Amino acid sequence: MSARARILGWVLLVVLLALAGTLLATRTVLHNQLDQRLDTEISHESAKLRAYLASPDSRQPDVDALLHRYLERNLPEQHETFFSIVGGAAARRSAVEPPARLDTDRALVADLARATTPGYGTVETAVGSVRYGVLPVSVEGDPRRGALVVAEFVDHAAGQIDDVLGVMAAMSGAALVLAGLVGWLVAGRILAPVREVRLAAEQIGESDLTRRIDVRGSDDVAALGRTFNTMLDRLERAFADQREFIDDAGHELRTPITIVRGHLELMGDDPDDLAVTRRLVQDELGRVQRMVDDLLVLAKSGRPDFVHPGAVDLADLTVETLAKARPLAERVWRLDGVAETTVRADGQRLVQALLQLVANAVRHTTAEQEIAVGSAVTATSVRLWVRDTGEGVPPDSRTRIFERFKRGSNADGDDGAGLGLPIVAAIAAAHGGSVRLDSVPGRGATFTIEFPLTRVSTVEALR
Ligand SMILES: Nc1ncnc2c1ncn2[C@@H]1O[C@H](COP(=O)(O)OP(=O)(O)OP(=O)(O)O)[C@@H](O)[C@H]1O
Ligand SMILES: [Mg+2]
Repeated sequence: MSARARILGWVLLVVLLALAGTLLATRTVLHNQLDQRLDTEISHESAKLRAYLASPDSRQPDVDALLHRYLERNLPEQHETFFSIVGGAAARRSAVEPPARLDTDRALVADLARATTPGYGTVETAVGSVRYGVLPVSVEGDPRRGALVVAEFVDHAAGQIDDVLGVMAAMSGAALVLAGLVGWLVAGRILAPVREVRLAAEQIGESDLTRRIDVRGSDDVAALGRTFNTMLDRLERAFADQREFIDDAGHELRTPITIVRGHLELMGDDPDDLAVTRRLVQDELGRVQRMVDDLLVLAKSGRPDFVHPGAVDLADLTVETLAKARPLAERVWRLDGVAETTVRADGQRLVQALLQLVANAVRHTTAEQEIAVGSAVTATSVRLWVRDTGEGVPPDSRTRIFERFKRGSNADGDDGAGLGLPIVAAIAAAHGGSVRLDSVPGRGATFTIEFPLTRVSTVEALR
């Protein structure tokens, strides 16, 4: 069953139960009111009879005449009938023909004739139940006992109630059908975007991420559509990035492979030639190895386990980096300063980033120029930097160099792949920070990794 039919089914069931409950309650209330009204009616008749008995008009020779006179003067209302009993038998009845005759029921009449005080009762007749009141009367000098019987035809009066309930039921039925129709249409309109989301999701394979949902309005369903579209945007971007990454990597790896193949094809038998070729091939393979390693680091950088934060003593980290850097080349090595603080970070990744910066600095300086490593903290952030007094980064390359496989205009002739700075940027980003470049051409460059400071408790730092 569709969601539309299920929702509507439940709504209609609830409405139906509510309507049925209302009808039942109304019926009960109306019937109670009717019972009360009929009893009031009977006591009203009894009051009228008492008033008649007190009036001069009631001076009649016998009981029969007394009740006859009364019946002549008092006509019953609708659903009502009066008759008199004299001497144990039905005597006269009011002029209007009642729906059913009670005065012909001998047993009932005999029973009623025995009453000495006013009484009430109910009997079942061919036209349903009848509520009656019996009011005994007597006349001085007449030994016969008389009584006035006032009968109210309950079911006849109730017929009106049933008419009202019938109309109510018919109207409720019509309202239910109308509500069903309107509900069906409204549910269809509300659920249309959900159906669209479902169809779109079905159609979207890995290959077609371009489809979007047509979002209208600003309700919850529209929000669902928008969220879905945003998710698709992200997916599409991620897939495009991945494809571009693989394209770039394939392209870059092709160059060293071509070089190696070319040399191997042209290789002669001359031992000197062989030695040169072997060195070249080893160089190229070393380059490929480095590139593959760097690519693997970059490929991993989007994953949550790229960094493993722990307690890192910044002073130790800075000094250790400088110690690892020194043997790389003969330069004027310096320690710019150390932050005597323990912070939460991934120490190994930070050293890896700093060594990438150091390798760059080495590549763009000469033996007598300076390379410095330093660290510092402010109230909110950590800074780690590598500074050199080399040629600096040309202004036209400053943003480009942070992109994958992009190298600066000063990189002609070196064998870099353009993966170092993207790795540094990825490590900074994984710490919630970024890399900043300050450079004056001809005077050097400073690359600073900056990320938010998270202090570590003393206990954790000692572990
Ligand atoms: N300290 C620096 N001084 C001057 N230019 C720099 C410096 N560091 C980086 N660059 C410029 O930025 C470019 C990109 O650096 P990156 O580390 O990303 O790649 P690479 O060093 O060329 O290659 P790889 O690091 O993959 O071996 C370099 O080619 C160079 O032009
Ligand atoms: Mg580099």
